[in-house]
Amino acid sequence: MSTEAVFEFIETESQHQEFLTSIENLKGQRGAQMPALQEAQRIYGYLPIEILKRLSKELALPLEELYSTATFYAQFTFVPKGEYTISVCMGTACYVKGAGDILDSFSTELKIAPGETTEDRKFTLESCRCIGACGLAPVLTVNEEVYGRLSKKKADKVLVTYLKKE
Ligand code: FES
Repeated sequence: MSTEAVFEFIETESQHQEFLTSIENLKGQRGAQMPALQEAQRIYGYLPIEILKRLSKELALPLEELYSTATFYAQFTFVPKGEYTISVCMGTACYVKGAGDILDSFSTELKIAPGETTEDRKFTLESCRCIGACGLAPVLTVNEEVYGRLSKKKADKVLVTYLKKE
């Protein structure tokens, strides 16, 4: 599924409370926009439109302004992250050793493009710059786990391991 997918906004009670506390602390402060967006993303993992609307109302900031700031900075995302974020290194050392094929293969298998999250929110697929492990090229990470010296076959095995996880 692509980023076109509409992800249902789900909020836990503790997220809700944490969000309210953050907003209370930022109310009336000058330059509250960036910290408010950062707090929202930290709490929810992305910026759902429902949250942007709440921020707009509570902090009296135009929704368009919040949206355009969130769009401008790469640190913000409107798409929820999956349980497992797979980052395929596309730095030079990894690229020349076939990282592009691995990324393509994962993209086909998961039916999402890099930067997207599967509809069940299990996987987010990303490409990244050199992570400083060129000696292990080609390299990918799944959350904090690093997998190196991959062939396409080995990489597919890594993916299958995570596909099998509940
Ligand atoms: S290029 Fe991939 S780890 Fe350096």
